[in-house]
Amino acid sequence: MARTLVVAADVWRSFQRERGVLAAVQGCSFKIKAGETIAIVGPSGCGKTTLLNLIAGLGVPSSGRVEWPGLGSPDTLRPERIGVVFQSANLIPGLTALENVELPILLANGSEAEARALAALATFSVEALAGKLPEQLSGGQAERIAVARAIVTNPELIVADEPTGQLDQAGAALLVDRLLAWGQQTGSAIIIATHDERVAAKMNRIWRMRHGKFESMDERLKCTGTG
Ligand SMILES: Nc1ncnc2c1ncn2[C@@H]1O[C@H](COP(=O)(O)OP(=O)(O)OP(=O)(O)O)[C@@H](O)[C@H]1O
Ligand SMILES: [Mg+2]
Repeated sequence: MARTLVVAADVWRSFQRERGVLAAVQGCSFKIKAGETIAIVGPSGCGKTTLLNLIAGLGVPSSGRVEWPGLGSPDTLRPERIGVVFQSANLIPGLTALENVELPILLANGSEAEARALAALATFSVEALAGKLPEQLSGGQAERIAVARAIVTNPELIVADEPTGQLDQAGAALLVDRLLAWGQQTGSAIIIATHDERVAAKMNRIWRMRHGKFESMDERLKCTGTG
């Protein structure tokens, strides 16, 4: 049996807003196991980013609980155990692409940061952009570098929020294929929020969200590319 990395039990996340409380995530329960690949899909505002933040330990549930039995304590989750790709890439301005990708290794007191960062960039064919600053990159280039930054410490879970939103169809497919191939090699689990059904179809499971709840959580065999 694959190791359970994340357990969420009846998780809610509410935000206080001017006109009252908005419950962005409403009673979600699930497990994420080693090696699983999951897509979260659903309309804008349905709670995908909020849920991913809870999974990555970047947000605290208003009620219910999220635990990481296979990953350790919330303090040590990132960047070693969970790699995060933020919705708008979020590269740090003023640092080159290479320095952005080296950063998780340095934060984790790892060695050979430059060589490992270059290898991660090469995984997504963006090693030639190593010396560029974020402002010199296209949106799609920045996304590929942000994914390289998330995998560079070989985390056991990747949490990626619309990592292909700025890429064209072919670029999106290539990025996800490379990420999935990396995950197969390392045995890591990958969870992606996406509006792209073609991207979602590459994952083993699709969780459909609406108004903060799961509509369905398909368990299915991986699509082999035939439809
Ligand atoms: N920090 C916050 N404060 C107040 N409201 C918030 C906050 N973060 C999210 N929300 C609200 O929670 C709801 C869910 O937002 P969320 O960003 O999770 O949606 P999403 O599914 O990721 O949307 P998109 O596809 O546009 O990225 C939205 O109504 C949003 O306005
Ligand atoms: Mg979002």
